[in-house]
Amino acid sequence: MLVERAAQSGVGPAQSSMNIKRGAVLALAVTVLTGALAACDASKPEVSANADADADAGASAARAANAGAERSDARGAASAVAIKLVAQDAGQSRAQVYESVRQMTALGKQLFFDPSLSGSGRLACASCHSPDHAFSPSNALSVQLGGADMHRTGMRAAPTLKYLQSVPAFAEHYHESDDEGDESVDAGPTGGLTWDGRVDRGSDQARIPLLSSFEMGSTPARVTAAVKAAPYADAFRAAFGEHIFDSEDATFKAVLQSLETFEQTPEVFYPYTSKYDAFLAGKAQLTQAELHGLQLFNDEQKGNCASCHISQRTKDGAPPQFSDFGLIAIGVPRNRALTVNRDPRFYDLGACGPERTDLGKRDEFCGIFRTPTLRNIALKKSFFHNGIYHSLDQVVRFYAERDTNPEKFYPAVKGKVQKFDDLPQRYWANLNTEAPFDRKPGEKPALDEAEIKDVVAFLQTLTDGYKVPAGPVNMSAEAAIPAVAVR
Ligand code: HEC
Ligand code: HEC
Repeated sequence: MLVERAAQSGVGPAQSSMNIKRGAVLALAVTVLTGALAACDASKPEVSANADADADAGASAARAANAGAERSDARGAASAVAIKLVAQDAGQSRAQVYESVRQMTALGKQLFFDPSLSGSGRLACASCHSPDHAFSPSNALSVQLGGADMHRTGMRAAPTLKYLQSVPAFAEHYHESDDEGDESVDAGPTGGLTWDGRVDRGSDQARIPLLSSFEMGSTPARVTAAVKAAPYADAFRAAFGEHIFDSEDATFKAVLQSLETFEQTPEVFYPYTSKYDAFLAGKAQLTQAELHGLQLFNDEQKGNCASCHISQRTKDGAPPQFSDFGLIAIGVPRNRALTVNRDPRFYDLGACGPERTDLGKRDEFCGIFRTPTLRNIALKKSFFHNGIYHSLDQVVRFYAERDTNPEKFYPAVKGKVQKFDDLPQRYWANLNTEAPFDRKPGEKPALDEAEIKDVVAFLQTLTDGYKVPAGPVNMSAEAAIPAVAVR
């Protein structure tokens, strides 16, 4: 059993029936429960994880969407964990199930902000995933500091944790459902969590930073001791049983599950309250610059951004996620500031390793990284998987001029520009060559400087927490949306 991507209709007409045939990742089990329960008792106050102040109209919209979530018997992933959790106490009423989701959400929130889980005692999930920055870092470091001495670094920028609920499970050959697009098209490698898509569930993901020697550097024993000593220890026992702390393994699993549950709180993690959402709903107008930016973003001959960062609603009316979740190689320059990159033989090759290990011998997966959502992108301070850029201008200029003016992005050795310096040449066939990456040196860039500015202005409309202006808006949003590129 699997539920479709629950909150996809956060703003706009709530679709009543969807037959989505793919496994949503984070939105799995618990959303099934919250969705079903919200449907049965929509008047109840929502779970109390208000880490973010965005919980206004959009939250109730997201909740309504959740309530509309329908089960489908399609293939795929698993509400196994939820079922198990529910079955922990077979014969639980809906109210009891609702209560246990509420408890896990509240616990997950406390765990998320608790540095005592880490080996150093100084690093919480929130240290790298700040709620004020859409759960991306509050500083502008390319990669965050961690480990026992808080001086170790990994190789990747910390992403936003918002809008992960609709990331599908990783698949080498991905087919959209007909409700969303064209089912016959093989979209290639798609989905999964982290930049290389190596895990499918929030609970499996949470294990990574907790145990990583350059992040939280903890152990199940340390985590158990911390939770046992935490102010929320009693709440933890109440949620998972009096004897939960007898088993480190069970405690650690309960921690992971609580974190996953917290990450699915709709009003915190997928509220759909951006200006662009209001615009799509006909409740706000974009400025000239923003509208022009949207046009350029969508135009196949210009930015062509929407071919990967989807900007229009799905066929069935769900709001856009600003990603098709595809894993793609775009040849981001090597970030020479990273410690790992001091070794000239070291390469972060994304899906083919070294962090991900199951596709290591598959050359066609070298250099590909999952397309991130662009929702709340203006709240981020470092961009791309290696955090090389620190402003949206730089990022958009990279797209526009990577091929026309490569010397602006890649270093030169003896006067020769070392294009794609972070991907060994034997993998260059994997690089994307569609617009805007379809030009040659000397040709006109896909976007000029004024156009880059407008695209950035548009990207700034994707930040949650927009206050819808009072009074009527004199314009039909659908009519104003320029033609959209479809891949
Ligand atoms: C030291 C900084 C740091 C800490 C602490 C940290 N993370 Fe992360 N997080 C990252 C980085 C870096 C990535 C990307 C990892 C990769 O691609 O290999 C990431 C990725 C993620 C993702 C996947 C996002 C996506 O786009 O697929 C989730 C979910 C997540 N972290 C949750 C957590 C949770 C829960 C905790 C606490 C248990 C946590 N993180 C602690 C840095 C951190
Ligand atoms: C062919 C697919 C594709 C197209 C077209 C595309 N992107 Fe991306 N985008 C990606 C991928 C993949 C990444 C991550 C790449 C990496 O880090 O290696 C990314 C990353 C980004 C990021 C950084 C996000 C973050 O969290 O670090 C921004 C901003 C962005 N794209 C904006 C745009 C804009 C603006 C356009 C159009 C000018 C565009 N993209 C066109 C696939 C695409």
